Amino acid sequence: MERRRFGSTKREIAVIGQGTWYIEKGAAAIAALRRGFDLGMTHIDTAEMYGSGAAEEVVAEAIAGRRDEIFLVSKVLPQNASRRGTILACDRSLVRLNTDRLDCYLLHWRGQHPLEDTIAAFEELKSAGKILSWGVSNFDLPDLEDVRKIAGEGNLVCNQVLYHLEERAIEHAVIPWCEKRAVAVVAYSPFGHGRFPGPHTTRGRVLKQIAAAHNATVRQVALQFLVRRSSLFVIPKAASPEHAAENARAGEIQLTNDEVAQIHEAFPLGSPPSHLPML
Ligand SMILES: NC(=O)c1ccc[n+]([C@@H]2O[C@H](COP(=O)([O-])OP(=O)(O)OC[C@H]3O[C@@H](n4cnc5c(N)ncnc54)[C@H](OP(=O)(O)O)[C@@H]3O)[C@@H](O)[C@H]2O)c1
Repeated sequence: MERRRFGSTKREIAVIGQGTWYIEKGAAAIAALRRGFDLGMTHIDTAEMYGSGAAEEVVAEAIAGRRDEIFLVSKVLPQNASRRGTILACDRSLVRLNTDRLDCYLLHWRGQHPLEDTIAAFEELKSAGKILSWGVSNFDLPDLEDVRKIAGEGNLVCNQVLYHLEERAIEHAVIPWCEKRAVAVVAYSPFGHGRFPGPHTTRGRVLKQIAAAHNATVRQVALQFLVRRSSLFVIPKAASPEHAAENARAGEIQLTNDEVAQIHEAFPLGSPPSHLPML
């Protein structure tokens, strides 16, 4: 599994990690996550929102006895992200996850609480050793600029955003902004949250042809395309050990420039939004 530096942290993190939205309680989910860990997918993404805390409890069971191998990320809901609310939410997540620290703690999306308060809480949590770094999720350029103005350079570690073959809008401005400032870009819903191009579509056939050349699967090709830039990480969610193993092996293939070009052509980027500010 390829690993790369996660934003401005000094940590080398697996490019392919594991999501936990809609993960179900039970042996199959635990087995899937553990199979993923065994194959190097040690970056795990969860949130207090997922199953109202139930996903964090599943993660706790999966990481039991191997916490030090794991890069553990959770998120605070915007409605809890006041100065004091963020601290309390983190404490609740730590209890559910049965750990003393998160490797990264994210604001799930921007809400009503002032960013200054959430960031002050993140810094307090960092000083207390309860989180080792912090980031944001679903932040577009103006929001990212607001974070930079409040926190300065180097403190924002990642932006977790929607990114899959049929939704590449972040390539216009979010990825370049993040790359310029050593902010990791974590692609969520890399399979379109279950809406992956079918095998009999033109797009599906392009992926199938490339996959065949690598003795790989279409999903492995998709994941490898999504991590082709050095700032990028993906966190597919899988409910079975078989799916987890397939996803992990995406870390083993290398696409040629020609194959990347074919994917660009089959899944066009689209025009930048007209309101895009120049930052
Ligand atoms: N920050 C945010 O706002 C935000 C938003 C959405 C998601 N996320 C994070 O990103 C993670 C991933 O996104 P997602 O859960 O929305 O969707 P996703 O990873 O794009 O897709 C998950 C779907 O793909 C299927 N799948 C996975 N591996 C497969 C394989 N090898 N073969 C066939 N099917 C496969 C899963 O089926 P099975 O379950 O049956 O394996 C599931 O139906 C989430 O779990 C969450 O941690 C964050």
